[in-house]
Amino acid sequence: FHAFLIIEIMLYLILMVSCNHISLKGSSPTNFLFGTGSSSYQFEGAFMSDGKGLNNWDIFTHKPGNILDGTNGDIAVDQYHLYQEDLDLMNYIGVNSYRFSISWARILPKGRFGKVNRAGVDHYNKFIDALLLRGIQPFVTLTHYDIPQELEDRYRSWLSPEVQEDFRYYANTCFKFFGDRVKYWVTFNEPNVVVIRGYRSGIYPPSRCSFPFGNCTSGDSEVEPFIAAHNIILSHAAAVNIYRTKYQKKQGGSIGMVMNALWYEPISNSLADKLAAERAQSFYMNWFLDPIVHGSYPAEMQELLGSDLPVFSKFDLEMLKNGLDFIGINHYTSFYSKDCMFSPCEPGPGTTRTEGFALRTAKKDGVYIGEPTAVDWLYVYPRGMDKIVTYIKDRYNNTPMFITENGYGEKENQNSTNEELFNDFKRVEYLKSYLQALAETMRTKGADVRGYFVWSLLDNFEWTSGYTLQFGLHHVDYDTLKRTPRLSAAWYRQFIANHTPKI
Ligand code: NOJ
Repeated sequence: FHAFLIIEIMLYLILMVSCNHISLKGSSPTNFLFGTGSSSYQFEGAFMSDGKGLNNWDIFTHKPGNILDGTNGDIAVDQYHLYQEDLDLMNYIGVNSYRFSISWARILPKGRFGKVNRAGVDHYNKFIDALLLRGIQPFVTLTHYDIPQELEDRYRSWLSPEVQEDFRYYANTCFKFFGDRVKYWVTFNEPNVVVIRGYRSGIYPPSRCSFPFGNCTSGDSEVEPFIAAHNIILSHAAAVNIYRTKYQKKQGGSIGMVMNALWYEPISNSLADKLAAERAQSFYMNWFLDPIVHGSYPAEMQELLGSDLPVFSKFDLEMLKNGLDFIGINHYTSFYSKDCMFSPCEPGPGTTRTEGFALRTAKKDGVYIGEPTAVDWLYVYPRGMDKIVTYIKDRYNNTPMFITENGYGEKENQNSTNEELFNDFKRVEYLKSYLQALAETMRTKGADVRGYFVWSLLDNFEWTSGYTLQFGLHHVDYDTLKRTPRLSAAWYRQFIANHTPKI
């Protein structure tokens, strides 16, 4: 046992010392944000408390068969009630920012068709004040997948242009109540995932699914994803417009959007595979960012989709000029991309078809792009961080960027030893290598990255995987909700201390 303890202490010391090897100094402004990320449905619980309305994920998770382990976010990690405890954890790590989302249905249980729920507003007021009291900047997402079910029931939410007015109204309500203290606003978290999983593969609400991309045999309309995306883009523009005209000058904050950002590496040097990687990116991420930053859909989308792609009116284009102040990047992993425009588009084992006539795979000549993990979509490929940040920097004129999510998932089971549960060396290695790559990109390429958020402070409800995947710097015991720091929490604390200028 003693020998084991000594080895553990040595490993721990090596990890701590290795924190010094990454130099962010000189590459980051003094107010660089170091934080952790979270979201309302994955963290809050309290799904029927204090007047909250039902949202789309409440309904979806309660339908048998939708979630791998049959669970839901009714309680989640109960941050709604336990936030003071979580603030202590944040304080200990030393973060200067916390990313969370507001539950739309907690503020507007019936969308714009009902009253503001004062208890919901009070809750977020208390939470924001408590964060600020500890010197932690709230970094707030307006919608992180969850929307009031009312909007789904009334007019199929993102499929209707009506929803733009809902989002504008909701955003305005949040700016009005919280904008005096919140200086970082995100309109949408990963709208590309909302649309692809909600309207293409059908694995997220509202379970719309179109052949040949989903697991479905009978298809909903092929163009639904493009309509949903169009309404999301215009909802973003509506929210930014109201922020710019009514609040920003007075409140002095900034507003952006967060994208799920994969790196697509061409599987060969052939022009066809390079173009395929470009198309894959356009149909994944540029789909949303191009209209907002450049005022039009990516050229590849226009060429391939023709009249299936919705058109922006003159008024829309005016609204889109409001753009964004920063791009939030959720980056975890990379894939190879292979042309299937000039060659057959048949996905084989381990290969999926993406839009834009590109196949996506994690293997080339039998070798993975990066080390595989317990999570089937997560390969450790730190260069991907450099490549995707550089790509976004170049395509979007070095718009200020935040790494709004980066993290490592593991699967615990009933036989997991304490060693496996708490000594998460692999997570530390992952974070370290991705941060190292990020620091280099900032230093050598001048990428304007202004903050970094680990996903996540705690283990939490991982959507369709339920509680089977753990991303936390802290372990959560779901019987007692007890939070226990992992080694990675101590490592991040030390990392932040080493990279924060002393006053
Ligand atoms: C991105 C999503 O925003 C977040 O909700 C999710 O838990 C993480 N990825 C990990 O899959």
